[in-house]
Amino acid sequence: MADKKIYSASTTAPVNIAIVKYWGKRDTKLNLPTNSSLSVTLSQADLRTHTTAACSSTFTENSLWLNGEAQDVSGARQTACFRELKALRKKLEDANPFLPKLSEYFVHVVSENNFPTAAGLASSAAGFAALVRAIADLYELPESPTELSKIARQGSGSACRSLFGGYVAWEMGQAADGSDSCAVEVAPASHWPEMKAVILVVSAAKKGVSSTAGMQATVNTSALFTYRFRNVVPKTMEAMKAAIKNKDFEQFAAHTMADSNQFHAVCLDTTPPIFYMNGVSRAAIRAVEALNTLEGRAVGAYTFDAGPNAVIYYQEKDEEKVLGFLGALLAPEVAEWAGKYAKVAPEGYDNRPF
Ligand code: DP6
Repeated sequence: MADKKIYSASTTAPVNIAIVKYWGKRDTKLNLPTNSSLSVTLSQADLRTHTTAACSSTFTENSLWLNGEAQDVSGARQTACFRELKALRKKLEDANPFLPKLSEYFVHVVSENNFPTAAGLASSAAGFAALVRAIADLYELPESPTELSKIARQGSGSACRSLFGGYVAWEMGQAADGSDSCAVEVAPASHWPEMKAVILVVSAAKKGVSSTAGMQATVNTSALFTYRFRNVVPKTMEAMKAAIKNKDFEQFAAHTMADSNQFHAVCLDTTPPIFYMNGVSRAAIRAVEALNTLEGRAVGAYTFDAGPNAVIYYQEKDEEKVLGFLGALLAPEVAEWAGKYAKVAPEGYDNRPF
């Protein structure tokens, strides 16, 4: 009798926010970056994607639903993830003829974010990490998170870092086939649990220029970008790893803020220029700089991705200072910002079914 069973697996994946930014591809097909990057994985209690993957001989097509809406699965990114995961499952089936032939079935994926998808809060990172993890679980693949990160990377570059908790590097690698471009753990969340972050949701609007389009425009037109990826990022990567290892917030903050500012400088150096930050973002930068100057030490460290929302890292002991100061300085000025923030801590990867 034909197997009509529906096989399924569920997982959650966290958001990660880079402190050394990935910006630029050397290979757009395989999603290979021009520089290594480093991020902190944020708590899933606040920000996460929950995904269920199912397959059955009765399904007639691959499909993907995000927050209740059907998505296009014919794109190169989704196709690459489905293809690579199926190939790994096929290897298992070839080695064990008693396994059900899941690699021959279509896959349905249902995903839900517990944060606004359009808010530029690294939703594609959590989304593709959850998709890859869920299908890998469905297929009972034995591959390590680092191996799976090479597949998630093809969905969205930053997604490869969301397969780990804590402090995570995406090593750019050298190989033309991308076999060494993957995520590795720098330190678990438990290494530096005092680290916290607050996200100031300045705007929940969808970003004007997507990361994918923006970074390629930068690659093609910015001279500063070449200097950044060749001369600056390799040194920043080493300095950031040392800062994390030594739990040195002063160094962590200095490199985080400098890297964010340089990333936005290369955006401005792009033709036509890309502006991700707005007036409120700049007010947040001034507020953190003022607080650090006032205290005579690094209390907060801001960073901005491809959008105006600020992520400010700080140590738990400084929580009142950071939230009080930012609230007092920014909330009266910007009504839409007031009260709209999420506090998060770095977290270990939690792969238990939701
Ligand atoms: C500014 O990973 O979204 O957030 O690989 O084209 O999907 P694609 O780009 P994506 O870019 C993220 C850019 C960033 C920096 C970072 O997360 O490192």
